[in-house]
Amino acid sequence: MHAKIIDGKQIAEEMRADLSQEIEALRQSGVTPGLAVVLVGEDPASQVYVRMKGKACEKIGIYSETIKLPEETTEEGLLAEIDRLNNDEKIHGFLVQLPLPKQINSRNVLLAIMPEKDVDGFHPVNVGKIAAGDTTGFPPATPFGVQQMLIRSGVEISGAHAVIVGRSNIVGKPMASLLVQKADGANATTTICHSRTKNLPEITRQGDILIAAMGVPEFVKADMIKPGAVVIDVGTNRVDDPSTEKGYRLVGDVDFEKAKEVASAITPVPGGVGPMTITMLLYNTVQAAKQWAGA
Ligand code: GUN
Repeated sequence: MHAKIIDGKQIAEEMRADLSQEIEALRQSGVTPGLAVVLVGEDPASQVYVRMKGKACEKIGIYSETIKLPEETTEEGLLAEIDRLNNDEKIHGFLVQLPLPKQINSRNVLLAIMPEKDVDGFHPVNVGKIAAGDTTGFPPATPFGVQQMLIRSGVEISGAHAVIVGRSNIVGKPMASLLVQKADGANATTTICHSRTKNLPEITRQGDILIAAMGVPEFVKADMIKPGAVVIDVGTNRVDDPSTEKGYRLVGDVDFEKAKEVASAITPVPGGVGPMTITMLLYNTVQAAKQWAGA
């Protein structure tokens, strides 16, 4: 079998085109959606992500602010900035880029963000709303993006067995919450597997939809996939490759070359789930602005 390649870049572009129309309509009614991103310190990967988020806002018509704070910022200093953003009317959503320097407790930080502005969906109120199927909550961008990819690729989710490998709070657990709901684009039977799961290949082979999100390069082999399954690869891992200019290449959590001979559809890395994540952050920001405006 030659799997269909699910093109995340194209789906993200389609979603952004729809979103830009919604943003224009909001602007016409006097509300410009606003997103702020707080970066503490100089982590190189975080700097890249934050720059990409700012550029994506600019391109689509969302007002954006990037707040850069020094590495030695205290927890009190960051909490004061969060308090300011919670009360800033131009800002409908904001996030604090993780990881944070070690003197700052990230749990305290996430709890301080007003849930109505928590477009990352990391605050316990949003975690609870997503678990309860309350659509006023903000789902975290990555699992939300995966769900949209499945829907927009015409994958039958209802009644399917979705097997998720990886139990993180930002991907695995919310992924299962989203897909198990009694709702359109959901109604799946869900299983979460992890590093202690017994007979893992036996369980992954039951997945009509197999979502790999454990952060281990090329862990999911072809013989762990049910023939004809839809495979979504959330992993982005750098592996050394002296033959490339940068000295490394990006691979997912799935052995793509072999997996695509077994699956019916599969996401590549890069160009799969990655391009969806910032799109879903923009989507959540627009939802936050609409909720604020009562629209
Ligand atoms: N660091 C890596 N990904 C993310 C994300 O989605 N949100 C935040 N706040 N930090 C991150």
